[in-house]
Amino acid sequence: MKENTTKNKIYLLLKQCDGYVSGEKISEVLGITRSAVWKYIKQLRKDGYVIESATRKGYHLMQSSDKLNEAELSYSLNTKTLGNKIIFLPKTDSTNTEIKRLAVKGYAEGVTVVAEQQTGGKGRLGRMWVSPSDTGLWFSFLLKPDLSPLHIAGITLACGMGVCIAIRKYTSLNAFIKWPNDIIINNKKVCGILTEMSAEADKINFAVVGIGINVNTTFFPAEIQHKATSLFLEKGIAIDRKELFRQVLTEVEKYLNDYSENYGIYVIDEYKKYCATLGRNVCVVRGNHTIQGKAVDIAETGDLIILTDDNQKININSGEVTVQGIY
Ligand code: BTN
Repeated sequence: MKENTTKNKIYLLLKQCDGYVSGEKISEVLGITRSAVWKYIKQLRKDGYVIESATRKGYHLMQSSDKLNEAELSYSLNTKTLGNKIIFLPKTDSTNTEIKRLAVKGYAEGVTVVAEQQTGGKGRLGRMWVSPSDTGLWFSFLLKPDLSPLHIAGITLACGMGVCIAIRKYTSLNAFIKWPNDIIINNKKVCGILTEMSAEADKINFAVVGIGINVNTTFFPAEIQHKATSLFLEKGIAIDRKELFRQVLTEVEKYLNDYSENYGIYVIDEYKKYCATLGRNVCVVRGNHTIQGKAVDIAETGDLIILTDDNQKININSGEVTVQGIY
């Protein structure tokens, strides 16, 4: 069941109606007093919604707010598992950490935490992920796949595919994937994915997939301007974060289902079409060790296959990758 507070229910009633909805009708449908309706209307206005009121007509939602909330995030979301429960937090340390806390409490697969702001956003390789409010989409979900830990890379690749396709469908921008899971547009990063798991030797207990998308960011610090971008900067118009969120969950669920059902064969084939790393010279740093060569293929496990300068084929499953012409 999706979370639905009275305020959210009023919002949904107004959203589903083209014109005015009377205060009387709202109070009847929700079983609350007219003055309670008025109290929630005032709260919605405070949240940024433009709601007109007219004597004898009622209330009319003129303009949605860009603020995130549970009702809007789950509005017309048609996924089966992902987002079956959406928890919205105005501020948290990291949505990945929050999902891990919920997993330990026994929450079911699909629970999704969306934060307006993260104070300790985590990136890959122990980096920090800057997550200010009002501009991005920072969210994580819980998976309990019946797979061995060897498949974790494939799960991340499937999620990367889903994000890439959702961005393409929703914005018409030419998004690609920099292996393993950075989504790039015009060779700059627009989204990062961090997958973490709790596993035993042959079984994943649970996996947490965290997705960070720079949606309406207008400015990046000078030191990352050459490698970071946002959908707003690429498209030139503000993007509806809630609609994008729904599209991303929908596409990610499709690719994840496919990955579990077909052992990744279709996902890997699709991934190759959108992988900007293939065919380019790469440099991979793993601890003190550097490998240089040409990225020639993606293995069924999701590994990047590199043909080194001395003609050896090496499978890479992690590390910091610099791709010639990208970053
Ligand atoms: C990367 O380094 O590219 C991965 C970045 C992942 C960031 C997202 S934002 C939502 C989720 N919560 C986190 O703390 N990290 C991920």
